[in-house]
Amino acid sequence: MAKIVGGIVTSHVPAIGRAIAGGLQEDAYWKPFFDGFPPVQKWLNEVKPDVAVVIYNDHGLNFFLDKMPTFSVGAAESYSNADEGWGIPTLPAFPGNLDLSWHLIESLVDKEFDITTCQEMLVDHAFTLPMKLLWPNAGEAWPVRTVPVCINTVQHPLPSAKRCFKLGQAIGEAVRSWDDDARVVIIGTGGLSHQLDGERAGFINKDFDLKFMDSLVTDPAWATQYSVEDLVDFTGTQGIELLMWIAARAAMGGVEQVKKLHSNYHIPISNTAAGLMLFENVE
Ligand code: DHB
Ligand code: FE
Repeated sequence: MAKIVGGIVTSHVPAIGRAIAGGLQEDAYWKPFFDGFPPVQKWLNEVKPDVAVVIYNDHGLNFFLDKMPTFSVGAAESYSNADEGWGIPTLPAFPGNLDLSWHLIESLVDKEFDITTCQEMLVDHAFTLPMKLLWPNAGEAWPVRTVPVCINTVQHPLPSAKRCFKLGQAIGEAVRSWDDDARVVIIGTGGLSHQLDGERAGFINKDFDLKFMDSLVTDPAWATQYSVEDLVDFTGTQGIELLMWIAARAAMGGVEQVKKLHSNYHIPISNTAAGLMLFENVE
């Protein structure tokens, strides 16, 4: 059976793409953010996962307001990146893993998650930039196969934190029941607190972010006590992307199954509180 080797949760911001393209990693503005990643890159180089399940939120590239699935799973041979209008370079296509995609889809539907199956899927900055941050030297050939999982955070109603936690648990069970000897890493991208629009544009809530990061170590279901409205109130309109972290952490397993190896928190990158955490699954 497949094995979950660990998980990584990180923020995503389009400006990171420009910083990478411009080689600004040592720049004073960017350094505290990029300095968070080498320990995670080192861990990935040592652990060498075969497949990454990437839980992220599309921002209007693959799905738009006319058709907005709450949960969707990719089932494609590969996933292309396209220009979203941020003016950042696109990255080479990401290879899929059809076998895991269909196993995941079948398992989730069996567990009463009515997901949208995507046999064609474009991936945006929320998928591509974390991949580039984790494997900066990948070039044209990404070292892992991928299965994208999307959670709607663009158009209300959004799924609750509790539902996303359950989705994550179901993803974890599905991966562990996949009849393959693959080593799987779970990646969740989004958050932490940020608001891009309206009267609270620029809003950041460090106290909540740090409490939330701590909860993923000590009590991963902690944030599920809150409604989507509460979480938007605490973290901003786009801070709700932390739903990806909740699902990804739930996929990794319970408190006893997972050890935190590394974390970083830096504010702000563009309008966003940038968080990063690395967890390893213990036997
Ligand atoms: C920013 C953050 C995001 O999560 C996003 O999707 C787009 C922009 C920002 O802070 O600029
Ligand atoms: Fe975003």
